[in-house]
Amino acid sequence: MAGDDVLVEVGDAATDHRREHMLRIQLGAQRTRQASPKPAQGRRLDVREIVEVRGMAVALDEQVAERRQAILAGPGVVDPEALEAGYELASKLTLAAMLGTDLAVIGHIPQPTARPCRRGSSAALIPGGIAMAGTGLRGPPTAAMIGGMAADPESFRAYVVDRVGDRFERGLRRLAPADLPDGEVEIRVGWSSINFKDGLAATADGKVARAWPLVLGIDLAGTVLSSTDPAFQPGAEVIAHGYDLGVSRHGGFAEMARVPAAWIVPLPPGLSVREAMAIGTAGFTAGLSVVELEARGLEPADGPILVTGASGGVGSTAVAILAERGYEVWAATGKDDERAWLEALGAVGFLTRDEVTAEGRPLESERWAGAVDAVGAATLPYILRTLRRGAAIAACGNASGPALVTTVFPFILRGTALLGIDSAYLAIEKRRGVWDRLATDLRPRSLAERVTEVGLDTLEPALDAIRAGEARGRWVVRIGA
Ligand SMILES: NC(=O)c1ccc[n+]([C@@H]2O[C@H](COP(=O)([O-])OP(=O)(O)OC[C@H]3O[C@@H](n4cnc5c(N)ncnc54)[C@H](OP(=O)(O)O)[C@@H]3O)[C@@H](O)[C@H]2O)c1
Repeated sequence: MAGDDVLVEVGDAATDHRREHMLRIQLGAQRTRQASPKPAQGRRLDVREIVEVRGMAVALDEQVAERRQAILAGPGVVDPEALEAGYELASKLTLAAMLGTDLAVIGHIPQPTARPCRRGSSAALIPGGIAMAGTGLRGPPTAAMIGGMAADPESFRAYVVDRVGDRFERGLRRLAPADLPDGEVEIRVGWSSINFKDGLAATADGKVARAWPLVLGIDLAGTVLSSTDPAFQPGAEVIAHGYDLGVSRHGGFAEMARVPAAWIVPLPPGLSVREAMAIGTAGFTAGLSVVELEARGLEPADGPILVTGASGGVGSTAVAILAERGYEVWAATGKDDERAWLEALGAVGFLTRDEVTAEGRPLESERWAGAVDAVGAATLPYILRTLRRGAAIAACGNASGPALVTTVFPFILRGTALLGIDSAYLAIEKRRGVWDRLATDLRPRSLAERVTEVGLDTLEPALDAIRAGEARGRWVVRIGA
């Protein structure tokens, strides 16, 4: 939610229940996110700008507007960061406490729609992982409060592909919850992302979609609306990707999803839902590739690592992860104009697409200590014949095609290995573990850079561009955030 406009509505219980206090704020970056915030303890809300203040006592208007900061914390909680920042004691009190409120609800309200926030007796944790506490907090949020979406909405928007006779159709539709497949967990989707597979699924000849009609989107992140599995409580932030999502079962390009509990990853502390989708399936695959290479013994001191398809989603994230871990990263890219950006991500050297697709001898000079290959076809044989003795490739993509023509010599004369990477059906425990690491020691460098935001009604050009090999980093899809 960082950078978003958010409407905070505070009901003043102390003096006059009918008065509504409105505060529209722009969120800044949340610098600290810790595991499972306890509702009653509150959290610090990093307010970049007070956009609008309405209906508040004049003194408070001035105080808030002047300070351009609001520290929202539970009663009696003093935020250590605020202390360090030298705020005066008054500013460490909650906004709610300053108002003498009994109730504080924060809702994420897409502009320009002003949706009334719900008034109730308790609210603490809201989508985006920010908690806001009033002076009279009682219990966790109800599903109906989450992001302004009712627990059981009558209909919601979804981007659907369909076959009608021999005609291929794609576009926005309204679906009802009854259209969703069975599953334990209903999710209000906040963000999704665009992956190569989505680009294929969005075309008539893509050979990816296996059910009609189908909500596209192979990944999603959002907030649990309801769950029959006690492991996932309403209000919890979660990620789901892979398995059959967006392929043979309705996926993430919809305001609501229903997903088996066994496919769900709790959002790890340290990542927002938007950041999770800035990583998305492509970034997860890059992370998994690094995990598998290192499990086989790869270390930064071993030598240069080649990443192919470097400007794309998998490639750019692999560059960013490896560079952050201290590897010497070389990028193979067909886009010369992306070199500066890839350098900023941590690439120290470049190969052209021609270099990595040229014909060659069965074995050439040993060069690479490891590789992440998102391209396949003619590129993979190049890497195999230039790998150092004992080195491995994480083969995770086929952006330029599925065929593989090579010899056995790299394997039998140099002991190299081809590690197959499949993110879609990776066991859930391992999947959750990789996500935990993506939030910590595998966190990609400059996560927010080269992330292009689209919405449900503007995602088509991105779907076509990714299919055409025009990806530059990652696209995130704002759904209900
Ligand atoms: N194994 C898994 O679980 C898994 C998961 C996610 C993705 N994948 C696969 O990984 C591959 C990359 O995915 P992605 O999300 O990174 O896609 P992407 O964002 O579209 O990036 C693909 C990149 O590959 C390069 N490329 C080289 N030759 C190409 C060609 N002939 N056509 C198109 N692109 C070409 C381009 O980068 P340059 O111009 O920089 O060379 C392109 O930007 C895809 O095949 C995808 O299906 C696999």
